[in-house]
Amino acid sequence: MLEQIPILRQEIEEKFSFISDLKGLETFRLEYLVKKGKIQALFDKMKEAPSEQKPILGKELNILRKFVELKFEELKTKFENSQINEPSIDLTLPGRKYQVGSFHPVMQTMHQMMDIFIEMGFSVAEGPDIEDGKHNFDSLNFPPDHPARDMQDTFFLKNGNNLLLRTHTSPVQIRVMNGMKPPIRSIMPGRVYRNESINARSLAEFHQIEGLYIDKNVSFAELKATMMVFAKKMYGEHSKFRFRPSFFPFTEPSAEMDITCFLCGGKGCRVCKNSGWLEIVGCGMVHPYVLRNGGIDPNEYSGYAFGFGIERVTLLKTGVDDIRLLYENDKRFLNQF
Ligand code: DAH
Repeated sequence: MLEQIPILRQEIEEKFSFISDLKGLETFRLEYLVKKGKIQALFDKMKEAPSEQKPILGKELNILRKFVELKFEELKTKFENSQINEPSIDLTLPGRKYQVGSFHPVMQTMHQMMDIFIEMGFSVAEGPDIEDGKHNFDSLNFPPDHPARDMQDTFFLKNGNNLLLRTHTSPVQIRVMNGMKPPIRSIMPGRVYRNESINARSLAEFHQIEGLYIDKNVSFAELKATMMVFAKKMYGEHSKFRFRPSFFPFTEPSAEMDITCFLCGGKGCRVCKNSGWLEIVGCGMVHPYVLRNGGIDPNEYSGYAFGFGIERVTLLKTGVDDIRLLYENDKRFLNQF
């Protein structure tokens, strides 16, 4: 029986050399160190040994047990410590990127435009998205049979007592005039709605910035100068612009300002319909009828108004040639701005 002790010790030493964690150590304990384990089995066997062998057997077995217990404790401490020190995360994995929100390109343009006008002394006003026919059309001098009033162009509210989704920000002009006395110098940003088919150039829901300036002796030259200052700040000193006569029911005279096409640089292409120019703003001198509807005496005051499409300005600024891309919410697209 004595010869079995070094055999078991060799077996145990070999096992120890393979144990690499607490789980392995526990498996070892269950095989060797419990009451029914292999070491105790030898102690039990000792009873059968001749009595003159018992002291030496007992001594050798106790040495073996001491050795195993010490080594067991040593490994246990080692594995427990390494478990504390070793972080449970894998430091070699690539880091998780922090997702930070930012302003949508259309809102960026809106804020940039607003800043330019605020710097020129304009204040900011807002009006409701749901308007009535009076503010959206009548007060702005739209004749009763004007095509813009058509169901094909305007979203009317069901059973809405002539309520509709505003088709432009111009009705806010009336609200501002009704709410304050001249001098008035306001910009009115907001969302507008039109019953239009959606394509590369137009959407059914988009944004405008309206402008209104009313005081004594306001002239068309001031309107032109304001538009030029804005355009140069927005598009750079060397951008080229032109004014064209136009028509809006609420301004007289009316004009539109064009900027050289961003895509072809003025040569003529698909985007500018071969004209080399793109319209960026409608404007004009506020019609006397509109002033009167706003509670302002046209014999005493005059004023100018303008209206920009913010999406259009964004396309011109970024060179994006399809307006729908702005609202697909594709982060790969939006992250570029
Ligand atoms: N409301 C016009 C539109 O939606 C834009 C506009 C043109 C606004 C001329 C104005 C203006 O204030 O004077 O197309």
